[in-house]
Amino acid sequence: MQSRLMGSIEEGKSPSSPFRPNPTPALARLLPLRLVQVILMCFIMGLGISLISLHAMKFLSMKYFAPVEPFIIQSCYQDALSIESLVRPSAELSHSMNDTELLWRASIHPRVKEYPFKRVPKVAFMFLTKGPLPLAPFWEKFFEGGPSEHYSIYIHSHPAYVANFTPSSVFYKRQIPSRPADWGRMSMCEAERRLLGNALLDFSNEWFVLLSEACIPLQNFTVVYFYLSRSNYSFMSSYDDLGPCGRGRYDRNMEPEVTLDQWRKGSQWFEINRRLAINIVADVTFYPKFRDFCVPACYVDEHYFPTMLTIQLPHLLANRTLTWTDWSRGGAHPATFGKEDITEEFLKKILESETCTYNDQQVSLCFLFARKFAPSALEPLLELAPKVLGF
Ligand SMILES: *[C@@H]1O[C@H](CO)[C@@H](O)[C@H](O)[C@H]1NC(C)=O
Ligand SMILES: *[C@@H]1O[C@H](CO)[C@@H](O)[C@H](O)[C@H]1NC(C)=O
Ligand SMILES: *[C@@H]1O[C@H](CO)[C@@H](O)[C@H](O)[C@H]1NC(C)=O
Ligand SMILES: *[C@@H]1O[C@H](CO)[C@@H](O)[C@H](O)[C@H]1NC(C)=O
Repeated sequence: MQSRLMGSIEEGKSPSSPFRPNPTPALARLLPLRLVQVILMCFIMGLGISLISLHAMKFLSMKYFAPVEPFIIQSCYQDALSIESLVRPSAELSHSMNDTELLWRASIHPRVKEYPFKRVPKVAFMFLTKGPLPLAPFWEKFFEGGPSEHYSIYIHSHPAYVANFTPSSVFYKRQIPSRPADWGRMSMCEAERRLLGNALLDFSNEWFVLLSEACIPLQNFTVVYFYLSRSNYSFMSSYDDLGPCGRGRYDRNMEPEVTLDQWRKGSQWFEINRRLAINIVADVTFYPKFRDFCVPACYVDEHYFPTMLTIQLPHLLANRTLTWTDWSRGGAHPATFGKEDITEEFLKKILESETCTYNDQQVSLCFLFARKFAPSALEPLLELAPKVLGF
C-alpha cells in the first residue's frame, strides 16, 4: 500500500516544480473530488468560527471584567515603581478608609532608620474644631513665615460643617474625613487618633501638634520649628495627681494593663514625635480599658494618652505641655480671652510666665501656643503680633 502511494506521488511530479511533489492530483485520484470539497469547506468554516469566538471573548471580557483590564494595562506598561512615588503624600486628603483601616495603614513604619531619599521633616498642625476657625487670619500670618516644605495642616471639624476657605488659604482642602466628637468622651480621643492617622500617611511629618480653634501661636514659625526639631523629648503633659480629679478617677477594672500608680493626668493639647504618634494609632491594649472604664466624671482625653505613653515610653516625655492655659479662675473650663484682654502687657506676661526644662536645661521659653481666645481677639492680635510675638 505504502509503496503504491509513494509510487503514485512520484508519478504525479509536476513539470513546473521538479523537486516538490504536488500531492493534489494523486489525492484527487485516491479520494473523490466531492469529499475534498467538503473537507475544505469544513476547514474554512472551522477557521471562521474560531476567529469569531476569539473576538467575542475579547469583547465579553472587556464588558464584564472591565476593572481587570486597566489593572493589567497599568502593571504591564506603567513606569517602574520609584521610591518617590511610594512615599509621596496624596494631594487629596479625602479617602474612603474607615477608622480601623486608617489606623492600620498609619501604623506601618519603616524599620530601617535612615531614609534613602531626601526627607525634610515637617510639623503637622492638627486642628480639632467644632466648625469654623475664627482665628484663621492670624494663623495665615504665622504660616507666611514657614517654608511650605516644613509644615502640613489637618483639620477635623464636625462632619456637618462645610469649610469655605479660598484656594489661596493654607487651610484650603485640609479637612479630613471626620465624625462627631464630644468633650470628655472617647469620641474625642478617636478624633485625635483620626488626626494622627491622617497626618501619619505623609512620611515627612515628624512632629504632631494638636490645636483647637481657640489656640494661637506665641512665637514665629522659625522659633516653633527650631524648638520642636531640637527637642529630645515630646511635649505630652503627664503627672500623678493624688486628688479626686486625678487618682480619684481611676477604676480598678483597668488592671492589669493600668495600675493605680501608673495612672496619669495631663493636658489634652500635646506635641509628640512620629514614634509616639505611631504608638497612639497602633494601640489596641489600652484603648478598650479607657473606653469601658474611663467615662464621665472620668474625662478620658485627660488620661488616655498621658497614662499610655508614660507606661510605654516615659524617657521620651517632657511631661509638660507647650500650650499656655489660664486655670486660675477655677472650674472645669479655663479662662477665655477677648478683645479687651489683649494688650502688650498681657501677651508679655504669658511669654514670661514661667521657667521650665528644655533638653534638661533650665529655660524661660516654655510655651509656643496659648488658649483660649475668642473670635473678638483676632483684631488686637493681628495688630500686636509684629511687635510682641515676632511675626
Ligand atoms: C471597617 O471596615 C472593615 C472591613 O469592612 C470592618 O472589618 C471594620 O469593622 C470596620 N471598622 C469600623 C470602625 O467601622
Ligand atoms: C539632647 O539634645 C542635645 C542638643 O539639643 C544633645 O546635645 C544631647 O546629646 C541630647 N541628649 C540626649 C540624651 O539625647
Ligand atoms: C517624665 O516622667 C517620666 C516618669 O513619669 C520620667 O521617666 C521622665 O524622665 C520624665 N521626663 C523628664 C524630661 O524629666
Ligand atoms: C522670629 O522670632 C525671633 C525671636 O522673637 C526673632 O529673633 C527672629 O528674627 C524672628 N524670625 C523671623 C523670620 O521673623
